Amino acid sequence: MAGSGVFAEITDGDEFKYYIEGEWKKSASGKSVSIINPTTRKTQYKVQACTQEEVNKVMEIAKAAQKLWAKTPLWKRAELLHKAAAILKEHKAPIAECLVKEIAKPAKDAVTEVVRSGDLVSYTAEEGVRILGQGTYLVSDSFPGNERTKYCLSSKIPLGVVLAIPPFNYPVNLAVSKLAPALIAGNSIVLKPPTQGAVSALHMVHCFHLAGFPKGLINCVTGKGSEIGDFLTMHPGVNCISFTGGDTGIAISKKAGMIPLQMELGGKDACIVLEDADLDLVAANIIKGGFSYSGQRCTAVKVVLVMESVADDLVAKVNAKVAKLKVGPPEDDCDITAVVSESSANFIEGLVVDAKQKGATFCQEYKREGNLIWPLLLDHVRPDMRIAWEEPFGPVLPVIRITSAEEGIHHCNASNFGLQGCVFTKDINKAMLISDAMETGTVQINSAPARGPDHFPFQGIKDSGIGSQGITNSINMMVKVKSTVINLPCPSYAMG
Ligand code: G3H
Repeated sequence: MAGSGVFAEITDGDEFKYYIEGEWKKSASGKSVSIINPTTRKTQYKVQACTQEEVNKVMEIAKAAQKLWAKTPLWKRAELLHKAAAILKEHKAPIAECLVKEIAKPAKDAVTEVVRSGDLVSYTAEEGVRILGQGTYLVSDSFPGNERTKYCLSSKIPLGVVLAIPPFNYPVNLAVSKLAPALIAGNSIVLKPPTQGAVSALHMVHCFHLAGFPKGLINCVTGKGSEIGDFLTMHPGVNCISFTGGDTGIAISKKAGMIPLQMELGGKDACIVLEDADLDLVAANIIKGGFSYSGQRCTAVKVVLVMESVADDLVAKVNAKVAKLKVGPPEDDCDITAVVSESSANFIEGLVVDAKQKGATFCQEYKREGNLIWPLLLDHVRPDMRIAWEEPFGPVLPVIRITSAEEGIHHCNASNFGLQGCVFTKDINKAMLISDAMETGTVQINSAPARGPDHFPFQGIKDSGIGSQGITNSINMMVKVKSTVINLPCPSYAMG
């Protein structure tokens, strides 16, 4: 059970502690932040409201621990990560329980998130050993005007302290996708979990603690964004920020210092459907892509752009599947569960009301109880409706009818987002041309957008982000190149 057994030391009564220098502590603030269960809308957990002084201390400790960790053999770093991965998977049940209670993730998906995270950590350990063990060797006489008098040896060295800020929708998986690459590369970690999802993340951190990582290498502070958010992201002790979330990422990018940034922000992933598409396949992918975890995924299908000639058929097939979605509590593993907060539900409702007023066709009746919103397909959406452009992060999906592939591409590219997109057609040549024309980080052909498998490159353009993720790219992003140049007194070939 969450907060008990091996996890007992991370709580104190009804409050969860924060993690500093290998120990679980209560904040000197004496204050806590409540985590509201999206389903019951009652306080589920409380976490520490850490202070700026505590952030300063964490940074100091993380910096010192990193110096020693950088000197720890790569194979030993990998060994500890493998251990943490095994412990994480062993404790999937209590962590999944937190995900269900804090973010209303359906029960089975919650378990999947933890298992996927363990696999990600193991893969990162292996990939790190492979790629960080390699450097480059250059000779000078390949550049005009040079003799062979210089040998350049380059290797990859850590950046220092990595600040990891995951979002509410994957508080475990998108935390380890930052932690594991940072650690294998020799960096230390300061983790600031989202408030909603913090307790799941604290349990995950404890799995790393149980694996025996050195004290101070991994730290986790919780608290109010208004109190410690900017303080963390603008802290001079931070050498890299890896953030996943919404618009806040744009503000962080503007305020952060001269440090590498990895930002995964929003998306308005378009699904372009041509006349020759397999409509059963499309409908299945729209359901999976648009409605899984109630649409609260950055890679969710967020607008369907379907050729007018097949639109009626497609809408009918999707509607038949929407009717079968189970709506209710995450504990019962329902497909559609409460969205994360009341403000999120209100925002979604605002988009729905705007579309209604402007004449969209509602394929189902709009229904909401508290934070629970029933799945809704909106047909005949037009570009003057907010939902054509904005990201609902909820179970409501607009359909725009198009008369040419170019129209679909144009809509996709007019968005300020550029995360992923997808195209459905049996004509691979057309699919490739459309993929090339879509201004997004990834285009999926004949499948819904998705980040995984977790070693694939994952990136957004425009307001969707900076840098590329995926295990290999994240490791490479969390290192810098260090060169040593050996200078010879005369060209090496002078020796005969
Ligand atoms: O919400 C953002 C995630 O990166 C999406 O991940 O495609 O595995 O759901 P996913």
